[in-house]
Formats: sequence, C-alpha cells, structure tokens
Amino acid sequence: MGSQYKEGYMIDLQLADKTHDEQRQGEALIIDAPVQQNSRKLYIESYGCQMNFADSEIVASILLDQGFQTTGDYKEADVVFINTCSIRENAEQRVRNRLSQFGAEKRRNPKLIVGVLGCMAERLKSKFLEEEKLVDVVVGPDAYRDLPQLIGQVEEGQKAINVLLSREETYADISPVRLNGNGITAFISIMRGCDNMCSFCVVPFTRGRERSRDPHSILAEAQDLVDKGYKEVTLLGQNVDSYKWKGADAAEDAEIEVNFAQLLEKVALLNADLRVRFSTSHPKDITDEVLYTIAKYDNICNYIHLPVQSGSSRVLELMNRTYTREWYINRVDAIRKIIPGCAISSDIIAGFCTETEEEHQETLTMMDYVGYDFAFTFSYSERPGTLAARKLEDDIPEKVKSRRLSEILVKQQEWSLKRLQENVGKTLRILVEGKSKKSDLDYCGRNDQNAMVVFPASENIKPGQYANVFIERCTSATLLGRIAD
Ligand code: 5AD
Ligand code: SF4
Repeated sequence: MGSQYKEGYMIDLQLADKTHDEQRQGEALIIDAPVQQNSRKLYIESYGCQMNFADSEIVASILLDQGFQTTGDYKEADVVFINTCSIRENAEQRVRNRLSQFGAEKRRNPKLIVGVLGCMAERLKSKFLEEEKLVDVVVGPDAYRDLPQLIGQVEEGQKAINVLLSREETYADISPVRLNGNGITAFISIMRGCDNMCSFCVVPFTRGRERSRDPHSILAEAQDLVDKGYKEVTLLGQNVDSYKWKGADAAEDAEIEVNFAQLLEKVALLNADLRVRFSTSHPKDITDEVLYTIAKYDNICNYIHLPVQSGSSRVLELMNRTYTREWYINRVDAIRKIIPGCAISSDIIAGFCTETEEEHQETLTMMDYVGYDFAFTFSYSERPGTLAARKLEDDIPEKVKSRRLSEILVKQQEWSLKRLQENVGKTLRILVEGKSKKSDLDYCGRNDQNAMVVFPASENIKPGQYANVFIERCTSATLLGRIAD
C-alpha cells in the first residue's frame, strides 16, 4: 500500500479559496477571503493517508464551485465533513469520537449538516446512518461529484447516501483546492483504488478497483503548480508502480501507453527546479526502469517508500504480498546499486496472524539489512471483510503484539538516528518550506532524502527557495544546522 498514514494525530484542513492570500496560523491554513453575504460555510477534517488529504482538496473544489465558503471553525459551519480512514480499528474509533463532538454541535444547531466521507463511509454504508443518528450524509471516495445533489437532498429533510464505487472515476478534470497551505509542496493523485488484495488490508474494499489517471491531466496539474510557484510535487497512488495508461497522445493523433517510469520522467522534465516525489512503491512491482529514471534526473528525489510489512517469507505469503524476503532484498540491493545514497522507508506490521517469535526476529533482521531511514510501524488490527479476517485467526495476544511492536520501534529509532547522523558535517540542499514549528526564528525544510532540517532563518532566503545548509547535529527525527556560506 498505501500512503504514509497519519497515526495518532489529525490535521484540521481549513479550506482555501483558490484565489486569495494565504496566511499561516500554526498547522492550519487560514484564508483571507472577502466575506460573501449568505454563502454557506464548509468545514472539512481529514484522517488517514495522503490520498484522503488529496481527496479533501477535490471535495473542496467541488463545493467552492457551488458557492460555498470555507471556515476553520466547525462551530460556525453550515456543513461539516469528516473524511475518514478505516485502515485500523483505532483510526475508526478516533473518527467516532470526533463525530460525537460534531453531534453535540448539531444538537445546539439542528440545521448543521454532518457528512461522513471516505473509507469508513464506504465500509459501513447505510449502517452509518443507522448507527450514528446525527450523521446526515454518507459519501464514498468515488461519489464526490454527487455532493451538491446529496446536500440538496439533506436540505429537503432526507438522509442522503452515495457509496457507489467506479471503475473509471479519477477526478482528472477537477482542479484541487490546495489545502495544506504552504504554497510550496503539493500532492497530485495519479491513480485511485488498489487491486492487490493484501490479506490484512481494507483498502481494496473501500477504494475499489485500481485505475490510472490520464497523464495529460497530471502534467497539466503539475505545470499549473509550477506556474503558481510550487517547488515540490508528490505523485500519489496506493501502488504507483502499477500506474499504466493507454490512450491518445496530446495531439490526439496516436495511441500511447505510459507506465510509471515514463510518467515520472515527464513530470521531472517539466521544470528542473521542481522536486518530484512519489508514494507508495510496491516491492513486487518496482522496476529497474523506475530506479534508472530516479537516478537520471536530479530533481526526482532519492527517496523510496517501500513497505516490507514483514521480514518472513511465510508471513508475507499469508499477507498475500506476492513477494518473498529474498525478492525484497533483491529490490533493496538494486536500489543501493542504481541510486547510491537513496533513502528507503517502510511500513511494518507486528503480530500478524500466526507470526512466530522466529518470524518476528526475521522482521528485525530485515530492518538491520536495509537500515531504514524511517518506518511507520503498526500492530496488526483485524479488519472486517478482509481475506485475513475471513481465513485466518487473529491469534497473537495483544500483549505479544505490543511487545513485538516496541522492539520494532526501538530498532527503528536506532536506525533513524544512525541515518541522520551520517549527514552531520555535510552541506545539504534544502527546500525551505517555512518557519519551523517550534520557533519563528528558524526555518524548516527537507533534503532530497526527505529528512527534516531545521536551521536559523535568514533574510536572504525565502520559503520556496533552496538553501545550502551545513548540518551541525541531529536528534532522532531532525537535522539541525546553519546556512552555509
Ligand atoms: N493492521 C495493521 N496495519 C495495517 N496496515 C494496513 N492494514 C493494516 C491492518 N489491518 C498498514 C500497512 C500499510 C499501512 C498503510 O498500514 O503497513 O502499508
Ligand atoms: Fe497497499 Fe496492499 Fe492495501 Fe493495496 S491492498 S492499499 S497494496 S496494503
């Protein structure tokens, strides 16, 4: 899978009008939009993967076209949407807790429309309307174009639902409203859905069949971002390596086929100053062609998110990952050979069904083999309807799962620190993203390998520019330095 999930915290997305000045306030983006009398106000909050955050930008675009204005305060909204994640049980629990807060607001203001979007909407369908009486509208990830109609239905006093999945929908023609607000980095969805059927994963059920977006619309979106001054794009898909598009070329006089390596190259060629990232790569599909493309272009970042999930071939087979430990090692060796210095990160699941202590040890030795720069680590959470829920027993006690998870975490912290320490004493090229979270006197930004770097701000360099930063020291999560002469 899957993109890098935001575990343990959520971000409020405060919607931006496309044309108005942005003003950062903490994590959130506030827009100085002129006050329009009588326009309805929308508040949207997103959970889960980057794809969900990108989808919220599509939703915002659809509703702004209907005359909605946005607000960062749900208490003054007419419509509150929560874009949900089903990947683990605790992700769903967090959404339910938040919904009860919105419910309290609805009791105060009965006209408030509360909508549930995304994976939980798709998974629970009309059950949501039965279980959560305060929810008015339930909309799956392929039905966002229907939102204006569904809101209309609610305004007429009905509950509304559309959870139809599509084999074609890619929202290719909808220009997302950029919500994260730094004006420098943005996500571009290049495909939707997933056909992989990893046995633990609910995503193929909630996001439907895999489909690739027309490359012309991807390139147009990237070019538009360049024109607006953006300096970094991340191409998003559950499994970017299986991107495949067949259709007419730009002049519409010939049939072309575009794979992921070719798409990556086309985006990189748009502008040498635009950094290109992508997520997520699947070990079974990542090709040498992709690796050579990364190596060929300086502006394609040397960073690959390559989830291993487990270091044991037997567990990988039960997970239906369709590769073995040896295959994964072969892909890592290819990355090391073709792109020396490339950062690699991972997703790892502790305590999958029937995992033995020896197999858990194999995950730890895999971590030592690769030396991940970063890893997202999870305790296995059985999801209703998945292959594993139907065929395998969730037989590892919670205590054992959490002990294994903490061993994985400790190992990862050691590796993260070691990888960051390798940069101390070097000068790195950093794309300045803005002021650091902790101090207005510091800038933060990332290097090519995706490490976060914090350094004293300078009058001579503005956010959106590149700075050469000499790295003086590091913590286990951040590099610290100063602008080099
Ligand atoms: N339990 C635990 N972790 C899971 N993931 C996906 N499904 C589950 C589950 N049922 C993890 C995988 C995936 C990441 C996005 O979330 O590691 O790559
Ligand atoms: Fe990722 Fe596998 Fe889930 Fe697809 S099924 S989203 S590849 S973890």
